[in-house]
Amino acid sequence: MTRSGVIAGVLAALVLGGAAAVFAVVWRPAIDAIDPAQRTFANDLVKHGRTLAVIGNCSNCHTAPGAKDFAGAVAVPTPFGTVFSSNITPDADTGIGRWSEAAFRRAMRDGVDREGRHLYPTFPYDHFTNVSDEDDRALYAYLMTREPVRSAAPANRLSFPFDQRPLIAGWKLLRSATYHPDSSKGAEWNRGAYLVEGLAHCGACHTPRNALGGERASASFSGGDVDNWQAYAINAHSPSPVPWDADALFGYLRNGWHPDHGTARGPMAQVVANLSSVDPDDVRAIATYMAGVFGQPSPDHRRGAETVLAELKAMAGRASETNAAGAAIYAATCASCHESGRALPYGGINLALSTAVCGSDPRNLANIVLAGISPREGERSPIMPGFASSMTDDQIVAVLIYLRTRFSNEPAWTGVDQVVAEARRTQVAALRTAAASRQPPADLAQRDKP
Ligand code: HEC
Ligand code: HEC
Ligand code: HEC
Repeated sequence: MTRSGVIAGVLAALVLGGAAAVFAVVWRPAIDAIDPAQRTFANDLVKHGRTLAVIGNCSNCHTAPGAKDFAGAVAVPTPFGTVFSSNITPDADTGIGRWSEAAFRRAMRDGVDREGRHLYPTFPYDHFTNVSDEDDRALYAYLMTREPVRSAAPANRLSFPFDQRPLIAGWKLLRSATYHPDSSKGAEWNRGAYLVEGLAHCGACHTPRNALGGERASASFSGGDVDNWQAYAINAHSPSPVPWDADALFGYLRNGWHPDHGTARGPMAQVVANLSSVDPDDVRAIATYMAGVFGQPSPDHRRGAETVLAELKAMAGRASETNAAGAAIYAATCASCHESGRALPYGGINLALSTAVCGSDPRNLANIVLAGISPREGERSPIMPGFASSMTDDQIVAVLIYLRTRFSNEPAWTGVDQVVAEARRTQVAALRTAAASRQPPADLAQRDKP
């Protein structure tokens, strides 16, 4: 063989080997369809599956507002475009009715559908991979006993190359499984770790992502973004003025609010609404594990609400001198509720205790002032009016800048006006999509400036 012939042969072998390696990474077999009529499930298993589906927030992504349960077609935004959630009812043609339990388990564990296609990680299978076989079985039983709904999801809106599913296989090589039981810790801690790292997928929102959309394992729980909300750091980097502990976490996750920390809003409001209906022991376990993730506060951060409020008194006056407009709005519009001394849920917390005021950007604060806080149906829960229709962007900017100087020791935010404009735009758009059939979002559009 000539020298060039040898080189060509080696190259050909490399190309073939490479193609085989790519094929091995990308290719997944289809799993046979089954006959939906042949399934029966024990009631207890179905009931257990319901609880698990609640902890996993399945309906937050798979049930559109006002639509049939689990029929999918919910638009999930990503930095690369929009992915629509699948119909996971047992409909044989448009849902997962012909999926065997093995096919369902593979989807949860590896993000591959019955036919062998790779699924986008907006479906948080990088966490669901930690769910046990038994729990997958219960989830399967629960979903297969729901009402079948005939409804196909619209095509995803993703730009090239992100619309190419085989590429997801490459993405999967980069992810790292995070959960291992720790025999040196107690049963409650381990139960909490299993839920947080698995089904409850707390890190899907609270862990920052890299350029490819994967969670940065080295920065677990250091804060992330979701739907124009900041999901705060929930570890040693927490910006909360009063450090979190297991009891406060339990109260907040179970009831949706805590007197030293205020209320859960935006995407977190759905998470706590779900956790309010599951076994309290599971919520306690999550709180115990997360308290360990927060760790002991540093000595200069180890302070209670009284200390924070005493420090605040010493700072009074400073902010109103520099921002008279913001101070006047706060005094006229906000103080009556936030300094009334009335206890939660109907009184607002003193804003010196609010993570929204101490966080690294003003997005959540802008969202809250624009939209207010809606009460939970049939419960004694916090409520605050939204100011989208009664305040201009300029007024909201002034009050946000005032709150930051008056109620925190953190450096001033920059670009507050863009944040407020963006928050209004996003809320109007979200309301339009979600409630197109119910009520027009006219009251959110900014009124003409006076
Ligand atoms: C953060 C949003 C989100 C959550 C939470 C979520 N899913 Fe999904 N799920 C999706 C999206 C989006 C897809 C579609 C992915 C794709 O098309 O590649 C999907 C796809 C699936 C599929 C594949 C269906 C098919 O036909 O290919 C299954 C099964 C599934 N989800 C089950 C669940 C279960 C069970 C839960 C709760 C334990 C859950 N999902 C929670 C967003 C979510
Ligand atoms: C769908 C996204 C999402 C998921 C899933 C999620 N969170 Fe959150 N979380 C948020 C957002 C957004 C906020 C900020 C809400 C606000 O400003 O009220 C938040 C706030 C919090 C806070 C308050 C922090 C502070 O200092 O005020 C805690 C504690 C928390 N989350 C814990 C958890 C735990 C534990 C889980 C899992 C059981 C979880 N979160 C799952 C989005 C999420
Ligand atoms: C009718 C009473 C009422 C008025 C008026 C009101 N709020 Fe609230 N606000 C509440 C209640 C109740 C809550 C929920 C409890 C909590 O989180 O403080 C809340 C929550 C908040 C929070 C979240 C605090 C946290 O981290 O939990 C912020 C920030 C806030 N309000 C700012 C404002 C601003 C700014 C104004 C004036 C423009 C205002 N509020 C006017 C009652 C009110």
